[in-house]
Amino acid sequence: MTPVPPAIAEALHRTIAGGGHVCVVTGAGMSAESGIPTFRGTHDSLWSRFDPMRLATAGAWRDDPALVWGWYRWRMQLVCNARPNAGHAALAGPAQRVPLSLVTQNVDDLHERAGSTVDAHVHGSLSALRCFACGRAHDGALDAYVPDRQRIEPMRCTACGDRIRPGVVWFGEALPDDAWATAVDAATRCALMLVVGTSGLVYPAAGLPALARRHGATVVEINPEPTALSAEVDHVWRATAAQALPPLLG
Ligand code: OAD
Repeated sequence: MTPVPPAIAEALHRTIAGGGHVCVVTGAGMSAESGIPTFRGTHDSLWSRFDPMRLATAGAWRDDPALVWGWYRWRMQLVCNARPNAGHAALAGPAQRVPLSLVTQNVDDLHERAGSTVDAHVHGSLSALRCFACGRAHDGALDAYVPDRQRIEPMRCTACGDRIRPGVVWFGEALPDDAWATAVDAATRCALMLVVGTSGLVYPAAGLPALARRHGATVVEINPEPTALSAEVDHVWRATAAQALPPLLG
């Protein structure tokens, strides 16, 4: 097992002993060891293979909804076939003994499937389908996935007939109010923030570590690579989520 850097073990110990609150902020790297590609940073990351402006904006949806739905339907299938990794499992364990808030930018459900309650999905959830026009939640079954088909015609809203979109935040859209308020509250209250597997490039989520620090928290980055946040945190641990979280929280 990867040894926990003493300063980080001490920060967690101090937080628990003092009755403090831990906030864990996760990004795409959290699910990388489950086989879900990250957005940036590798030759096969999503935004190196696909153009976000054609796939992840409301304009892209209006232009070619079948292309966008086909891409999200592929990603939903990847998540469906994936399993939570040891990092997800480790985070699900300490909820009983440590007051812990879990804030994720991830739109997958691997935290939940590992047994965690996610306090805030700040970028939405792949599975929270809703109508593009009237916003009504889709309560029907999911359409069948057709492997290798690039374009899949979206399902239709039973209320208004418009197309059903994925429940994710697209570029140019606001974050869900409740999730963002919960994330800000957790960042403001915590004594320790663990920032796991995010490049720290997409705001406002990338501002949570700085917010926590301004309110007196110790901030720890867990990431195998340097990020935009590295210079602003208290401790950096160059390890993956599945390497670091089990010995830290186990
Ligand atoms: P990114 O893809 O930008 O960054 C992934 C980070 O994970 C990088 O810093 C990697 O070094 C790190 N990483 C890779 N493997 C890891 C591992 N096994 N353990 C820990 N860390 C690892 O992902 P995010 O920061 O989450 O937005 O991206 C932020 C937002 O940009 C996403 O939520 C998405 C995207 O556009 C929306 O969909 C709205």
